[in-house]
Amino acid sequence: MDSKVAERGALENEKETPQEQEQEQVVNPWEVAAKDGGKIDYDKLIDKFGCQRLDPSLIDRVERLTSRRAHVFLRRGVFFAHRDFNEILDAYERGEKFYLYTGRGPSSEALHLGHLIPFMFTQYLQEAFKVPLVIQLTDDEKFLWKNLTVEESRRLARENAKDIIACGFDIRRTFIFSDFDYVGGAFYRNMVEISKRVTCNQVVGIFGFIGEDHIGKYSFPPVQAAPSFPSSFPHLFSGKDNLRCLIPCAIDQDPYFRMTRDVAPRIGYHKPALIESLFFPALQGETGKMSASDPNSAIYVTDSEKVIKNKINKYAFSGGQDSIEKHRQLGANLEVDIPIKYLSFFLEDDAELEHTKKEYGSGRMLTGEVKQRLIEVLTKLVERHRRARAAVTDELVDAFMAVRPLPNMFN
Ligand code: TYM
Repeated sequence: MDSKVAERGALENEKETPQEQEQEQVVNPWEVAAKDGGKIDYDKLIDKFGCQRLDPSLIDRVERLTSRRAHVFLRRGVFFAHRDFNEILDAYERGEKFYLYTGRGPSSEALHLGHLIPFMFTQYLQEAFKVPLVIQLTDDEKFLWKNLTVEESRRLARENAKDIIACGFDIRRTFIFSDFDYVGGAFYRNMVEISKRVTCNQVVGIFGFIGEDHIGKYSFPPVQAAPSFPSSFPHLFSGKDNLRCLIPCAIDQDPYFRMTRDVAPRIGYHKPALIESLFFPALQGETGKMSASDPNSAIYVTDSEKVIKNKINKYAFSGGQDSIEKHRQLGANLEVDIPIKYLSFFLEDDAELEHTKKEYGSGRMLTGEVKQRLIEVLTKLVERHRRARAAVTDELVDAFMAVRPLPNMFN
């Protein structure tokens, strides 16, 4: 890479700095906000970040290669963008396997529904492609960014690991690790290889850090980058430096991996591929993502049926009209309606979703009825999750987090 380009902080396909983006919409790992109270413009985001749209031919290929129907998140465009996902499929078609890498920054006691999206999808990918998976718990990141002690971040990481395990990951193919516990050895060696190849100007360009930020922020990105390289896990991938990595996440994590992809070929690895989702929106509307920092924006996997019902009835932004007469006449504005948006993520029945949209959009169905259906769907989902989580013992967490070989991970 031209060193002048590196100095300016411009990375692969990046077209604008965060400062320039700020005049419009802000999307980075810590903040997601649309322009002037509007909706996130994903087309613009793809263009600015320089990733590619996931087109239907790729989804057909996934179905063909896995001999099963594509996940509802693929069919409905929830996972909508990618980087080199086609190369992962090309390699898989040639008989080369890959590994999956995803993560969680443990900032809250429980996950919310937005966090479930990448984990549910990763579980599907693991099962469909029969590949190993590493899950990073960035307890160090949350200590650095939030008002948490080291001990509290570590505790939250373990609590969150239970929610993650409850998503159904296969213990024979999954390694979950906390940065505080695992970073060292080969992982640390990769971190410093990465650090040496990223300038301050670059991280300022990518993440928008300022001079007053503590140096912990500047030093963290290589920690999230290192799991993209197989040699960070010698107990899993020793001698497999050529193994490709696929990262499922929401598009807010893209900046970390733009940086990683820039470094990868310079230290002898494939660039990690990404498959990226939309944000599950806040209850208040599509101007932001559902966020653990704002409890009223979020439905947590620990919320009771009563709490879910109250949150949806009280906060879920409705595209319905303000009187029944007007609603029957004009119908609902589905473009801004949160209950319909949520159903399009979690109501699996395609025919029912289409029917609901048609009836609600034409005014034959009322907001209350759609909200009631959403309450049923989410209560069922959260109940199922709660039962699965209750079965996750401390011993099981230890087993997933044990540094161990996974001899059957590709079988
Ligand atoms: P965190 O804990 O903020 O989020 C965990 C995962 O959930 C995604 N996500 C969402 N997806 C859809 N809708 C939302 N409203 C929503 N909010 C969060 C995130 O994109 C992420 O995939 N730094 C990371 C942890 C991490 C990581 C990774 C994530 C470490 N390595 C590799 C993805 C891939 C973090 O704090 O995520």
